[in-house]
Amino acid sequence: MEKLWGGRFREKTEKTVEDFTSSLSYDVRLWKYDIEGSVAHVKMLEKQKIIPRKDAGRILRGLKEIKEEIEKGRFKFRDDLEDVHMNIEHALIRKIGPAGGKLHSGRSRNDQVALDLRLFLRDEISAILGLIRGLRKAVVSSAQRHIDIVMPGFTHLQKAQPVLLSHHLLAYYEMLDRDRERLEDCLKRVNVMPLGSAALAGTTLPIDRNYTARLLKFPRISENSMDAVSDRDFAIEFISSAALLMTHLSRFAEEMIIWNNDEFGFVELPDAFTTGSSIMPQKKNPDVLELTRGKTGRVFGHLTALLTVMKGLPLAYNRDMQEDKEPVFDTVDTVKSCLTVLTDMLPEIRFNKEAMEKSAEGGFLTATDLAEYLVRKGMPFRDAHRVTGEVVRSCMDGGRKMSDLTLKEFRSFSDLIGEDIARYITVRTSIDGKKSHGGTAKKMVLARIKKIKGPGSGGRGPGGRR
Ligand code: ARG
Repeated sequence: MEKLWGGRFREKTEKTVEDFTSSLSYDVRLWKYDIEGSVAHVKMLEKQKIIPRKDAGRILRGLKEIKEEIEKGRFKFRDDLEDVHMNIEHALIRKIGPAGGKLHSGRSRNDQVALDLRLFLRDEISAILGLIRGLRKAVVSSAQRHIDIVMPGFTHLQKAQPVLLSHHLLAYYEMLDRDRERLEDCLKRVNVMPLGSAALAGTTLPIDRNYTARLLKFPRISENSMDAVSDRDFAIEFISSAALLMTHLSRFAEEMIIWNNDEFGFVELPDAFTTGSSIMPQKKNPDVLELTRGKTGRVFGHLTALLTVMKGLPLAYNRDMQEDKEPVFDTVDTVKSCLTVLTDMLPEIRFNKEAMEKSAEGGFLTATDLAEYLVRKGMPFRDAHRVTGEVVRSCMDGGRKMSDLTLKEFRSFSDLIGEDIARYITVRTSIDGKKSHGGTAKKMVLARIKKIKGPGSGGRGPGGRR
């Protein structure tokens, strides 16, 4: 069939080349944005008297019909037409005749595809922000519901100091809040209109880019036509923010997998979110969590892929850039599905208070509290650290806990230790004794929850603004 760009060609395109160059199989996903962009473009062309009112009317009606046909699944996309943009324009010309050929005045597929991808990402980033908000809410509710559960905090995956489970959970709230912030910031740079840059140099036609931008609700238009058609920073930035978000989801998934292990027994995962083994009848596997962890890898891959596509490209547009879409699309899909399933799952996770608290009792988790006790009595921290180490060593040798020691025994290590020591080395006093801002003391954790939920943060639930 005749290509829209066929004028200067004598031979027809090889079938293998058509197959190789076509992006239709995936960019068909942009059809709605492609039509939205064309509608705004036509209105601007009409306003600027670049095309007659009658033709603009025909084009708008034609685009509307195409939209309805696609929605009803009646539109026939053709692979030999290369991509979604050509498919729609071609259908328009067939529908309304030569007037359809006026749609592409003052624009090129180079600025058109950049526009479509930005419109797509703008929508999807907003959707992802909504899902992040949901997960943050679930995290805070869970923290609130389990405010009193004590557990060991870990460093090097070794028990370190007692903490509140709620404090541990809220760490993820903070990560997710930074993810929100990054995506909101990324959105500012996505939300810039490239249309009207044409192929790379701009156009001799008297277009009004600001008018088109207003119609498409872009707060800004691009300042350099060559940059506008060859920039994919916004897509890379999006995938990069998504990669960090996935890192956070993956760490959470990993922790739940470990905590669900029999040796820990800190959580019980809901049946509805686990799967069985095809051979071992006793098994209940944390596949949802494992897949979340595993899917993180593909998003990292997409980031590397797009960085690599872009790194050697001379200005301006190069066909290499067609390779931007699949990484972006798959990142969107992956992030959305992981956020959704984790948000559904979190409220159903049963935290095992007894196992967590029992684990927090063993292992000298309050040794640091003894050292800090000595510091408060005037001992330099380094000495206090050594003395406490000696206490722990001797308890381990005798198979005892610190709280088993008599005052006399304590004082054999340092006569700075007084009667009141018993009060400072329990798990509870260790937690509630934390004075520093951002620490695990219940008072502090409650204050953070209040701040998160409170009117000071916008009053729209966790995190406020979005
Ligand atoms: N399908 C192309 C892409 O995704 C559209 C732009 C084509 N531009 C061109 N000059 N061939 O990048």
